[in-house]
Amino acid sequence: QATVQELSNEIRRLKKERDAVILAHVYQRPEVQEVADFVGDSLGLSQQAAATDAKVIIFCGVHFMAESASILSPDKIVVLPEEHAGCPMADMVDAVQLERKKREMPGAVVVCYVNTSAEVKAESDIACTSANAVKVVASLPPDQPVLFVPDKNLGRFIASKTGREMTVWEGCCNVHDRLTVEDIQKAKAEHPQALALVHPECRPEVVALADKVASTTGMINFARENSAREFIVGTESGILHQLHKGSPDKKFYMASTKMVCPNMKKTTLESVHRALVTLQPRVSVPEDIREKAALCLERMLSVV
Ligand code: 13P
Ligand code: SF4
Repeated sequence: QATVQELSNEIRRLKKERDAVILAHVYQRPEVQEVADFVGDSLGLSQQAAATDAKVIIFCGVHFMAESASILSPDKIVVLPEEHAGCPMADMVDAVQLERKKREMPGAVVVCYVNTSAEVKAESDIACTSANAVKVVASLPPDQPVLFVPDKNLGRFIASKTGREMTVWEGCCNVHDRLTVEDIQKAKAEHPQALALVHPECRPEVVALADKVASTTGMINFARENSAREFIVGTESGILHQLHKGSPDKKFYMASTKMVCPNMKKTTLESVHRALVTLQPRVSVPEDIREKAALCLERMLSVV
C-alpha cells in the first residue's frame, strides 16, 4: 500500500499529465487540502472554477460545488472524486417546491445560497455564499420582496444585518445547526481569553455569542490578522488545518467535537488519485438548466 507521501507525489505527477487543477474546500481532510492547487471557501472556489485555464477540474468538496464549477466552466471536465458526497442542506429545497413558493410570491427576488442544486439556481435570480450574502442582498432593489432558500439560519443572519424583511426557507445545515449556546458558553468558560469564530449557518442564538461571524475564509483571515492568540471555532473541524497554517503560533479550540460533516470527509487521497486516473465520476448539467443557473451565479460574481 502506498504511503501518503507516495500517493501525494503520484497525484501531483498525474495532475500535470492530465492538465488538471485540484480545488478543495477547507472542510476536506488535511492530506487532500495539501495536494490541492487552491483551498478555499465556497466563494473562492467558484471564482477559481470560473478563472482556471486547466482542462480538468478535480473538485474535492460536495456535489453542489462541483456542479457550480461545471455551470461556470461548461467546456471543462469536472470530476467529483466521491460521487455520493452531497450536501443534505442543498437537498432541502427542490425546483418544484421553489416554483410553487414563487407562485405565492409574485414579483419576489429569489436569492439562493450556493448550497443548492443547479435546478434551484436556474429558478433563482441571484446566488450568494456566506462570504457575500449580506452584500448580495443589500444590492437588491429596496422595495422588492425577497425569498431566500434554503438556510433559515443564514437567512435570519442576513435579515438582521441588512434590516431587510425576507421570506426564509426552513432548511439548515445539520452540522452547524447542532452547535448550541451551551457549547459556546462552555468553551468560553474553559478558554476565557479566546475569541469565538462562528459560521452564519449556526443558530441565531449561537451567532449572537460570536466575536466574529464569517465564512470559513473570513475566519482564517480574521484569526491571522487579529491580535488575539486564542480562538474558539464554530464551524466544521476541517478548517483547523488552514487556521493552523495561517496562524501557526495561535491556539484554536473546537466549540464542539460534533462539528464534522461526513460528506466532506468522504474524499480521500485514494479517491483523488482514482479520479485523476479515470476522470470519473463527472459532473455536468443539461444545457437549458446550465444557462439559467449560470446567470444566477454570474450575477453573484459581479456583485463581489
Ligand atoms: P463557506 O466555506 O463558504 O463558508 O461554506 C461553508 C459550508 O458549509 C460549505 O458547505
Ligand atoms: Fe452541507 Fe453543512 Fe456539510 Fe457544508 S457542512 S456540505 S452546508 S452539510
